[in-house]
Amino acid sequence: MNALEIRNKFLNYFKSKGHSIIPSSPLIPENDPSVLFTTAGMHPLVPYLLGEKHPAGVRLADYQKCLRTVDIDEVGDNRHLTFFEMLGNWSLGDYFKETSIKYSMEFLTKELNIPIEKLSVTCFAGDNDAPRDEETARIWKENGMPEERIYYFGKDDNWWIAGETGPCGPDTEIFYDTGKEPCSKDCNPSCGCGKYVEIWNNVFMEYFKNPDGTYSKLKQRNVDTGLGLERINMLLQGKETPFDTEIFKPMMDKLQELAKEDNIASRRIVTEHLRSSMMVIADGGKPSNIDRGYVLRRLIRRMIRHLNKLGISLEKLEELIDLDIKILGEMYPELVKNRDNIVNTIVEEKDKFVKTLENGEKELIKELSKLKEKNVDTLSAEQVFKLYETYGFPQEVTKEIAEENGFKIDLENFDKLFKEHQEKSRLGSEQKFKGGLAEQNEQTIAYHTATHLLHKALQIVLGEHATQKGSNITTERLRFDFAHPQKVTKEELDEVERIVNEQIQRDLKVTCEEMSYDDAKKSGAIGLFENKYGDKVKVYTIGDFSKEICGGPHVEHTGVLGTFKIKKEEASSAGVRRIKAVLIK
Ligand code: ALA
Repeated sequence: MNALEIRNKFLNYFKSKGHSIIPSSPLIPENDPSVLFTTAGMHPLVPYLLGEKHPAGVRLADYQKCLRTVDIDEVGDNRHLTFFEMLGNWSLGDYFKETSIKYSMEFLTKELNIPIEKLSVTCFAGDNDAPRDEETARIWKENGMPEERIYYFGKDDNWWIAGETGPCGPDTEIFYDTGKEPCSKDCNPSCGCGKYVEIWNNVFMEYFKNPDGTYSKLKQRNVDTGLGLERINMLLQGKETPFDTEIFKPMMDKLQELAKEDNIASRRIVTEHLRSSMMVIADGGKPSNIDRGYVLRRLIRRMIRHLNKLGISLEKLEELIDLDIKILGEMYPELVKNRDNIVNTIVEEKDKFVKTLENGEKELIKELSKLKEKNVDTLSAEQVFKLYETYGFPQEVTKEIAEENGFKIDLENFDKLFKEHQEKSRLGSEQKFKGGLAEQNEQTIAYHTATHLLHKALQIVLGEHATQKGSNITTERLRFDFAHPQKVTKEELDEVERIVNEQIQRDLKVTCEEMSYDDAKKSGAIGLFENKYGDKVKVYTIGDFSKEICGGPHVEHTGVLGTFKIKKEEASSAGVRRIKAVLIK
């Protein structure tokens, strides 16, 4: 059996049980700016899990393209993937635990012919928020699961929620025993030693986690399940890693054939990241310095670095892309349809990266010769970090070049700096993208502060109704959506521009305070997306001009912003106008 056959078996099975088959949503969520990528099958279904009526009914099954980037740096080992496909079945207020478990057991043992001896399951152990899930354990037993292979674990293992708040509930996970020796006498499905591999997660979604941390019952009880296709495919084929299955192996072999210096981790990284990048591009992704685009940029650049490491010419990229389209095109026809766009996007990004590497290398060699003059043999963490931040120069490459020239680098402190930087960008971006990878740099930070000035200026010129409806920042421009019933006149725009530039010239100090949401409101701070903020909020004050709730970061004083210029004013949607503006230095 191969992955496509497993997918078809899954869909046919659930179809025979009265489920409507729905197509995969794109990797880039539609109408949901709060997440970077679709990370689970339930994502596009959230409104229906909360009670809205789904046009296809109350029983659904699908295969969903997913991208999870939290473990991006782990790719290269024998199991981590960023892109994967999740097979799922849903009950929207229809069947619950009894039927869900019966279906899973039947599908695994009868359709996929997995001997029940290979399976074990885990259930929720219970806590103050929800009781021990003995009902699920009982149902497993009734379906033939021996008691000794039913385990109980707490929230960390057996509770599922996407993000911080939202629909959630206890889950029961099904594990496959690879037959490896137990790691200890306490070896169990959650120990992570590799003997047990999780294959399917059935979530009994009957709760909603509120922003204050409490749980309420949902209007309806749902079932949300996820079965990782690459993983089950690997296990059924008796392979140790997904890279040995038909989805990845032809690419792994091709890279081996082309490599001057073989390295299996690098081959896995190239294989995995190429597939993910292609899937993101096919769904409309473009490399950039922020948010989704930045994730894609990272995937492509990391792949290129490892092609370099393998000694494979970057001229081969197009050939490799075509090979992947051959391998994956039947499962994902969108790759075939978007072939030219995929090639162009990846090759263009490659060219940019090669330039970056050249510039960074020049700078590095300069630094090294300065050190030589001073008789210093180690490149400091700050220098390594500066190369990373300014030129996007990867730390491994810095190390390699430094070592070639007889220098060491202070990796330990670099790691510290890097973590601090990550933490800062995480804090800065988490209001917008929980757990995302949004990057901040000098340019986007400047646009961020300019956005606050614009927001306030609009309210002064147009009135207090002109509140923020959306914001999007790239390194090239800011885009700001706000409520206003009609076109903003030329005179009004000029006045807004004049006010913003006046504040820039006054070189106002930007300060930040943390306070409770209520205090922030009382202080007169404006701020949108109220429901997305937790208890404590940050309030950024720009001199005597603006006060706004925001995750930051911002520039320290407005004088650094340059000249503010509105480029365009247009309609965004009914009652919402959109302004695009730039800062000229
Ligand atoms: N939503 C569940 C998961 O992603 C099924 O594991």
